[in-house]
Amino acid sequence: MKSANSVGPTIIVILGGTGDLTWRKLMPGIYNLFLDKWLPEKYAVIGVSRTEMTDEAFREHMQNGVDKFSRRGKADEKVWSGFEQNISYTQGGFDEQKTYDELEQKIEKIESEWNVKATRIFYMAVPPSYFEEIATKLGNSKLVENKELSRIVIEKPFGRDLKSAKELNDLLHSMYDESQIYRLDHYLGKETVQNILAFRFANAMFEPTWNRNYIDHVQITVSEQLGIGTRGNYYETAGALRDMIQNHILQLLCLIAMEPTVSFDADEVRNKKVDVLNAIRVIKPDEVHLNAVRGQYGPGWIEGEKVVGYREEQDVKKDSNVETFAAVKFFVDNWRWQGVPFYLRTGKHMNETISVISLQFRPVPHQSFPNSATGNWQPNRLVLNIQPHMGIKLGFQAKRPGLEMLMSPVDMQYDYSESYTSTTPEAYETLLLDIMEGDSTLFMRADQVEAAWKIVMPIIEQWEKNPSTSFPNYAAGMTGPEDAEALIARDGHNWFVTPPKNK
Ligand code: BG6
Repeated sequence: MKSANSVGPTIIVILGGTGDLTWRKLMPGIYNLFLDKWLPEKYAVIGVSRTEMTDEAFREHMQNGVDKFSRRGKADEKVWSGFEQNISYTQGGFDEQKTYDELEQKIEKIESEWNVKATRIFYMAVPPSYFEEIATKLGNSKLVENKELSRIVIEKPFGRDLKSAKELNDLLHSMYDESQIYRLDHYLGKETVQNILAFRFANAMFEPTWNRNYIDHVQITVSEQLGIGTRGNYYETAGALRDMIQNHILQLLCLIAMEPTVSFDADEVRNKKVDVLNAIRVIKPDEVHLNAVRGQYGPGWIEGEKVVGYREEQDVKKDSNVETFAAVKFFVDNWRWQGVPFYLRTGKHMNETISVISLQFRPVPHQSFPNSATGNWQPNRLVLNIQPHMGIKLGFQAKRPGLEMLMSPVDMQYDYSESYTSTTPEAYETLLLDIMEGDSTLFMRADQVEAAWKIVMPIIEQWEKNPSTSFPNYAAGMTGPEDAEALIARDGHNWFVTPPKNK
């Protein structure tokens, strides 16, 4: 559990210090932890990259990132100058032994000045092609010798498929204890995502209905208006299934479907989540077309601006078969969820940016009101709005005021922006603090990552074997390909559409 004094002296080494992730997310996150007094008195941040740069230039670049991307806006000059004293830069290639030797000297010097052994965090904010090299070089050095006090952080994508994920896990396990490895999925740090556990397990009234007897189906949509922008090189090796479903969206599914935990011990929570992944029915190769739909955006319009199609984006092949949209129907084969479809979908350059989970309840067993009263009937629905609007909404039927007995759907709503005035911490703030505290509850364990790959592999393999003949099959700015509508319509449902006031 977090408390202001729970973090001891800490040194955060960011490998990839001059990269985008550090600039946009990590440094603003660390700075906000400093402002909120979560950082220990003794802390140091060391950026490492190949670029030649002085400490001063690095600090200035970092301040610029904070000014641009911090949830609190521009940094106060005086406060920043206090904070930046503890930021430094080490120039070096990740393949060069001297980089690690220099780091060792630097860290030992800081620790001897502090007169204490610090927690050492090695954050790999680098493209995945560097993971193995860095992990190996660090693993062979004295930097991570102390297993209690040294941690390595690895971002997604964790492997490109089940085989490469296993290889990466094997490599890490040959040098590190699992307890030292923090596989980060930033969705798990989002405030509204953490609230799913609070909502489900701190309230007695929802749990009795949270199963196949009451819930008809579940939908999880993560749609983005943004296209792939300048990330063509990466995206061409990924696609929507690998980029979003294998990790973020399956994690959301786990939080919805998992059994209650006995405690919030990290392994207890992760055991319950991996149980869900292991229960997801693996789609047979010849049934992939019935349960999964892919799409790729063509040219279109986003908020009144003309945008190019995926195949015309920078670093993308003109005949690319990579999907920018994916929708999948899964079943969770266990007592709680047998027969309840979970529909997941995600896409780039869609009509709106929204992450939302909707649980639709079954109809009442017997309708006692006459047809004339229930013409407007809609199923009960619980909607968890993850972002950008943050809140929870429960839709139910109520009598419309008047002399006639007429039903109308109405909502009960919890809205973060109405209930709280302060801004909520960014996912990276939560996760960085967890790493400093040594709390791995919100991080992916080796078996979770592998179980998630197992689920998506048959789809990936089928799609790679059979390139789409219809790409591009949705215009940028639309809700995805028609086949995605058919996927859910075949079962008599529609994709949930958020009313405009909730966006
Ligand atoms: C990343 C994906 O993991 O998550 C991106 O690689 C995606 O493609 C991003 O845009 C979405 O994150 P968020 O927090 O903006 O929903």
